[in-house]
Amino acid sequence: MYKIFDTVDEVSRYTAHRLLEKIQTKPNAVLGLATGSTMKPVYAQLIEFLQQTPADLSQLTTFNLDEYMGSSAAHAQSYSYYMCQHLFNKLSIPRHKVNLPDGMAEDVECICQAYSAAIQAMGGLDLQLLGIGSNGHIGFNEPYTSFSSRTHVVALSEQTRIDNGRFFANQSEMPTHAITMGILDILEAQEIILVATGNNKAGIMAELYHRTMDEALPASALAQHENVTIVLDAEAAALLQQSA
Ligand code: GLP
Repeated sequence: MYKIFDTVDEVSRYTAHRLLEKIQTKPNAVLGLATGSTMKPVYAQLIEFLQQTPADLSQLTTFNLDEYMGSSAAHAQSYSYYMCQHLFNKLSIPRHKVNLPDGMAEDVECICQAYSAAIQAMGGLDLQLLGIGSNGHIGFNEPYTSFSSRTHVVALSEQTRIDNGRFFANQSEMPTHAITMGILDILEAQEIILVATGNNKAGIMAELYHRTMDEALPASALAQHENVTIVLDAEAAALLQQSA
């Protein structure tokens, strides 16, 4: 299902409201969280909603999609740091219930397996929030990742390193590898919300809208899921009709 709004504000309000509803109806929900600039206004809106309508967050569990390898939680561009800055420092979710892949782990294979297993041990994700890369990646599952993948290490594509390099002082500081939840981990969530805003997402959203399932376009895996909402602003949706 597509939900198209005029503005980023409306997209963020709708998405944050869906998160709030999940928290209210299932206080022990397991949430799959995403990073990226798209999610900043969503998290800001969720915090505002929770200030207006406080909810019990003590039973929530969260699993983030991904983390750069070689990035400690203290690194300003790590996703761990991002999550603290934009959400966790402002909400009272118990820290031991917050999960991110460990970008500094020595035994990476082991922590990847443990990450997918931990999600399953919690009974799976109730709601997974997703952004999308300009090459169609979800989490850091780059083009041609198997749709049956579990948490794994990925070599970031050139496109992703260019896109995300803007957040680093110097492009050469942009990590080459990341750990990401796999596509199958994502597909096993009960409910998925993918959010895309801005004209830099118009091309990939048009491609996703018209393409059949194909591992060349990771987000196309969502077509096999029964409860996906794709939330767009007018800019990200601009080419959906034209390319029909
Ligand atoms: C990163 C993350 C993705 C996210 C994407 C989009 O690559 N790994 O999970 O969806 O960025 O980011 P933005 O919202 O900044 O466009």
